[in-house]
Amino acid sequence: IKHLRSAADLDAATATLILDTAGEMAALAGREVKKLPTLRGRTVVNLFYEDSTRTRISFEAAAKRLSADVINFSAKGSSVSKGESLKDTALTLQAMGADAVVIRHPASGAPHRLAQWVDGSVVNAGDGTHEHPTQALLDAYTMRSRLGRIDGLKVAIVGDVLHSRVARSNVLLLTTLGAEVTLVGPPTLIPVDIAAALSKTTKVSYDLDSVLPEMDVVMMLRVQTERMQDSYFPSAREYSRRYGLDGPRMRRLPEHAIVMHPGPMNRGMEITPEVADSSRSTIVEQVANGVSARMAVLYLLLGGKA
Ligand code: CP
Repeated sequence: IKHLRSAADLDAATATLILDTAGEMAALAGREVKKLPTLRGRTVVNLFYEDSTRTRISFEAAAKRLSADVINFSAKGSSVSKGESLKDTALTLQAMGADAVVIRHPASGAPHRLAQWVDGSVVNAGDGTHEHPTQALLDAYTMRSRLGRIDGLKVAIVGDVLHSRVARSNVLLLTTLGAEVTLVGPPTLIPVDIAAALSKTTKVSYDLDSVLPEMDVVMMLRVQTERMQDSYFPSAREYSRRYGLDGPRMRRLPEHAIVMHPGPMNRGMEITPEVADSSRSTIVEQVANGVSARMAVLYLLLGGKA
């Protein structure tokens, strides 16, 4: 594949190749091999129109560990504030010889448009409420490294599914890899048509307590208060009471089950500090795995091996 715009770009074989390659990248880092010469002379542009901590830093770290030249572009402080369009910005990057453009944008579909204007590879680093495919890859990598497989895993994705690009990409990727996904949350935040459109095998539940004892993985989503209308979200206290993951709820999970969160977290809203900082939590591990997963994506896309 040339671009990674959606988790739907990945069939099971390609996704597995990326996860295996991420494993090789992590093993090299574990053996103190800090840098590989693979992408020497190639240019990766990080084009961020929306705030990011984890994704931006890990793409930069990933490209540098592969010896690529990295250009970091943030819309704040650029000519975007003077009204320059995405297309003109893309053509400027094209003129500078970008081999890959990693884009985060508030508009769903922006990476698809960008791919029509640049010759290099386009990687979606989060577009609106649409998708975040490299987050899904690092999440799948984390599940596989903790639990040994993805096929047959029971995964609950909990909370604000309506606004979550992480949920959409995870449903697509995890079902491609054979996991059974259940979306859990208040009805206003899980439109059934979204679940049905994402995957025929995805289930929906409005009762977190009843699904927890069955799960291998529970992935908590950030409540996106900035995208919320009153009609979707009546009260933070009521939300936490019914859908927040606290210590007693966590203890309903099977012994081996893990707790994930893509970050940033609303501690005390969708997850308590006791759970976020517990030994079941993979939240910090997910961040570390993000570098290996993004190295694998850049390596395979730019090397033409995926
Ligand atoms: N998980 C995630 O995308 O985090 P950032 O917004 O900090 O990149």
